[in-house]
Amino acid sequence: MRLDLSTWKEIDEYLLKSQAVILPVGSTEQHGPLGIIGTDTLCAEAVARRAGELGGALVLPALAYTPAPFNMGFAGTISVSETVFSALVTEILAALAHHGFRQVYVLNGHGANLEPLRRVASAQNALDIHIRSWWEFPAVRVLRDELYGSWEGMHATPSEVAITQHTHRIVDHAPIPAPEPLTPEFIASHAGDRHGPPDEHRRQFPDGRVGSHSGLARPEHGETLLKLASEACAAEFNTLWARVETSP
Ligand code: NI
Repeated sequence: MRLDLSTWKEIDEYLLKSQAVILPVGSTEQHGPLGIIGTDTLCAEAVARRAGELGGALVLPALAYTPAPFNMGFAGTISVSETVFSALVTEILAALAHHGFRQVYVLNGHGANLEPLRRVASAQNALDIHIRSWWEFPAVRVLRDELYGSWEGMHATPSEVAITQHTHRIVDHAPIPAPEPLTPEFIASHAGDRHGPPDEHRRQFPDGRVGSHSGLARPEHGETLLKLASEACAAEFNTLWARVETSP
């Protein structure tokens, strides 16, 4: 069930049965030569919407403007500061609490959102917040590993590109070679998108990919990844906050 396609009376009725919602959070940033700029938002939105259809959860419009300062050296990236992002999430949560919601499942699609989201979640006490990135679900991890192994990399991953190939479009581009493989030290020290300033980041990763061989993406992979992620999301949502059925 989508909030943006519902009426206020339908939300009133939903609140009688459940006080839990899903909030998809993505980014607006470059995703290499084969990945579209909305990749993170479109993936989070697709997983959340499908999970909402499967489990009956209410799904909010996706939050697309988030921090991605390291990608500002690439055209099209729109990064907002952590301060603005955190303030916006805080106000969205306050509005939800105002209407009687008590639980928020944040379905994340962008590594750099995690630290500010965790800080916002720990600073407020009106709501239960659960933060989950779609690629973390065990079944999704297994398939990502089977399909791409270490070529999944860190940014413009074949799995996220595959999902948007299935849901939106396949970019018409000549084949691209594998990127420079990342060292385990680099991966450990850059988790959560802890990248350097934009000019340095572009020099280090000139086509925008960070160790990810996006060229391995296929729309049929994306279809299965989306199915597994949305099923796991719906299952986790319902396990956390099973809907309370009220007698008529
Ligand atoms: Ni991404």
